[in-house]
Amino acid sequence: MLNKELEITLRKADEKQRKPKPDQNSLGFGKYFTDHMFVMQWNREKGWHEAEICPYHPFSLDPAAMVFHYGQEIFEGLKAYRGPDNQILLFRPLDNLNRMNKSALRMCMPPFPSDTVLKAMKALVYLDRDWVPANEGATLYLRPTMIATEPAIGLRTSEEYLFFIIMSPVGAYYAEGFNPVRIYVEDTYIRAVPGGVGEAKTGGNYAASLRAQNEAKKKGYAQVLWLDAVERKYVEEVGTSNIFFVIGDELITSPLTGSILPGVTRDSVLQLARDKGIKTVERRLSIDEVYQAHDSGALKEAFGTGTAAVISPVGELCYKDRVIGINNGKPGEMAAMFFNELQAIQRGQSEDRHNWLVRVG
Ligand code: COI
Repeated sequence: MLNKELEITLRKADEKQRKPKPDQNSLGFGKYFTDHMFVMQWNREKGWHEAEICPYHPFSLDPAAMVFHYGQEIFEGLKAYRGPDNQILLFRPLDNLNRMNKSALRMCMPPFPSDTVLKAMKALVYLDRDWVPANEGATLYLRPTMIATEPAIGLRTSEEYLFFIIMSPVGAYYAEGFNPVRIYVEDTYIRAVPGGVGEAKTGGNYAASLRAQNEAKKKGYAQVLWLDAVERKYVEEVGTSNIFFVIGDELITSPLTGSILPGVTRDSVLQLARDKGIKTVERRLSIDEVYQAHDSGALKEAFGTGTAAVISPVGELCYKDRVIGINNGKPGEMAAMFFNELQAIQRGQSEDRHNWLVRVG
């Protein structure tokens, strides 16, 4: 049930509940949380209700809450930026909320009114606006999340849910910053199968990726590049981002076939590329073709795109023990161009041609 008349109440943190702000130069990623959060509940009788912006606090949940047992959980990631004149800007928030509603559908969770949640999100960001970092490269990361809370351990769809938004001032996701990362092409484990939940942003996809990520880390790689589950041949996405390759004069990325997360940054890069007349191709690309392109000199660049990772150049790939360097391990021209353009738009420093920004306050 969609509750269109959802009322949002506000309960501000008192002095004692407010936290000291961290040093903007050493934020890392997702270690600090702001003073307030947004919470709302769902049950069949009332739909979405008890919507509240309140002080950041821990939850008390029944150990039988269904999320703990069968993983009915979805989440999103988006960012708020400090623009000129201290204006706070959200980047494509409705795209994230609409994607979250698609994830909800796939995971049998109740849809929520995106417009009302956007209103709450804006009020929340405005209330904690002093937490939005001013430093270049630092932003406020928002994490909308929905979990199944009904206490019951039979396997079925939960009848109760909790939706919340928490916020964290963050720096670069990778320790490498904009320096190229080393990526391990995974040929043992798989991330998502056709007909599965690969395109939903659900915690299980990330839990399932950890073993491969840990093994890659031990070998000195920042992330894994997933191949398709059926032929173990076509590149799909990286652990934390979508992936693009520049081969010849084409910008190539995997098509959204159901096993890949439909990234908002992915879509933004495709749009910016089209604006510039760059030839963009969404097609299946085999890892063998990537290696052949490297050998022939046609592979110019590779980079990941994601909210957390932004644009993250790939400097090296390792597939079945064969290591190749990309662009001599340096950030490519296109990666740098998209990084700069996207950042300038997100920070309100260049024209927002596609109406991606939502002003807060
Ligand atoms: C994001 O980019 O927002 C994500 O959710 C990826 C996550 C692994 C940090």
